[in-house]
Amino acid sequence: MKKENLIIFTDIDEIARLAIDYINSQIENFQPHTYFTIALSGGNTPKKLFKQIAENYNRSLAWKRIKLFWGDERCVPPDNNESNFKMTYDNLLKYIDIPPENIFRIKGENNPSEEATDYSQVLKQNLRFHNGLPSFDLMMLGLGEDGHTASIFPDQLNLFTAEEYCAVATHPVTGQKRITITGNIINNASKITILATGTKKAKVVSELIHTVPGAEKYPAYFVNPTYGKLRWILDKEAASEL
Ligand code: 6PG
Repeated sequence: MKKENLIIFTDIDEIARLAIDYINSQIENFQPHTYFTIALSGGNTPKKLFKQIAENYNRSLAWKRIKLFWGDERCVPPDNNESNFKMTYDNLLKYIDIPPENIFRIKGENNPSEEATDYSQVLKQNLRFHNGLPSFDLMMLGLGEDGHTASIFPDQLNLFTAEEYCAVATHPVTGQKRITITGNIINNASKITILATGTKKAKVVSELIHTVPGAEKYPAYFVNPTYGKLRWILDKEAASEL
């Protein structure tokens, strides 16, 4: 892995600033009326980053030029504590000046297979295409201890090569249904970031970055941009076994 594709941070503000600078530098070169599209990750890891942006950088971004999507969502209502939308609303959305029409929520309360189809249409209608597929400007991913990313779990690796843009996944332990963006769309992003923090992620991070034998059992192993760039963003704890 090239060194510039790996960032080990000590303060989340470093990452907030990097994100802001990157997004603004991209928008600067966009045609007017072109949006910067972001697929947000869920879970707990992004909370500190979202809070940092909400509290300190709301006015640093042209939110009206940014469209927000999710890489995956739990099949629960948006007011459920399991909801990635609710996590994002509580830590970011309720504090920033983003036009509501720029927020594209995966409707976890809907029938899962219908919502997977509907959200595929949302991507088709709102993203620019590259190589014949919808392409996010920024795909934010998290990483599970089992090496899952988005909601592509080790026992559902087929979702990495699924034809559909979005699919229904099942959490292997809880059986919870999820909607996930599939691997071909993940890899078709212009920039992919994998943000991992904490010592619990250190082993899987190390095995993935060093591509040790057996790492291909982890779905995150298959994150490999078709034309864009992948950047690992780790705190010291998650990087402690590199
Ligand atoms: C989700 C995610 C998932 C998450 C990882 C890491 O809906 O849970 O999008 O891919 O990023 O499970 O979760 P934590 O950040 O909570 O460790």
